[in-house]
Amino acid sequence: MEKLIIIVASAMTFLLAIGPAYGQYYSETVTPPPRREKMTRLHFFFHDILSGKNPGAVPIALPNITNAGLFLTLIAMDDPLTIGPELTSTNIGNAQGIYVWTARDPTMFSAVFYADFAFTSGRFNGSSFGLFSRYPETEIARASEQVIELAVVGGRGAFRMATGYALTRVTYASAENGDASLEFNVTLYHY
Ligand SMILES: *[C@@H]1O[C@H](CO)[C@@H](O)[C@H](O)[C@H]1NC(C)=O
Ligand SMILES: *[C@@H]1O[C@H](CO)[C@@H](O)[C@H](O)[C@H]1NC(C)=O
Ligand SMILES: *[C@@H]1O[C@H](CO)[C@@H](O)[C@H](O)[C@H]1NC(C)=O
Repeated sequence: MEKLIIIVASAMTFLLAIGPAYGQYYSETVTPPPRREKMTRLHFFFHDILSGKNPGAVPIALPNITNAGLFLTLIAMDDPLTIGPELTSTNIGNAQGIYVWTARDPTMFSAVFYADFAFTSGRFNGSSFGLFSRYPETEIARASEQVIELAVVGGRGAFRMATGYALTRVTYASAENGDASLEFNVTLYHY
């Protein structure tokens, strides 16, 4: 208890010490210097693994309705990104976030993704891009035949202020456990 009081007290002292500098509203608008836009293309595979002892994706909230399948189920994910189509190929990052399953028909897949795709190796180690997009409705049985476009809405590190898009296609899907792998071609415009 005493320790806690000391910690709280010293944290407050710190806040008081830096308080005035940050306590003032500040605003400035200027014309930025011209910037040169760069374009980066990324190719990798994303694995949404719901099965097994170490799933990367877990349903965290289900609507209280019956006979609706996964409709409006919220799934949290920390899914691996690899260089090759196999889950066991070299890992280069992860996609963290959530998606909402929006297909009412159990033979269809559609969702809205809110996710951050981060890289942990190579040139873009520490950088990430943000994906916020609808994954339009596709027939599950024919998902591998369709290329889907997803929107990139920002980024961190090398991808700060990125805009762009991802083209993706299902390369593996299990009807039994819901596991899926997707190939991604991402085009990013950044500075
Ligand atoms: C789920 O819905 C049923 C039927 O509408 C209701 O009786 C039940 O209380 C609900 N459960 C929760 C946890 O909201
Ligand atoms: C990526 O960056 C982290 C943090 O800077 C560093 O610890 C790690 O070794 C880097 N990984 C590779 C493969 O370069
Ligand atoms: C990604 O790009 C490669 C090389 O151009 C192409 O072979 C592949 O079909 C593309 N995949 C998707 C999902 O766009």
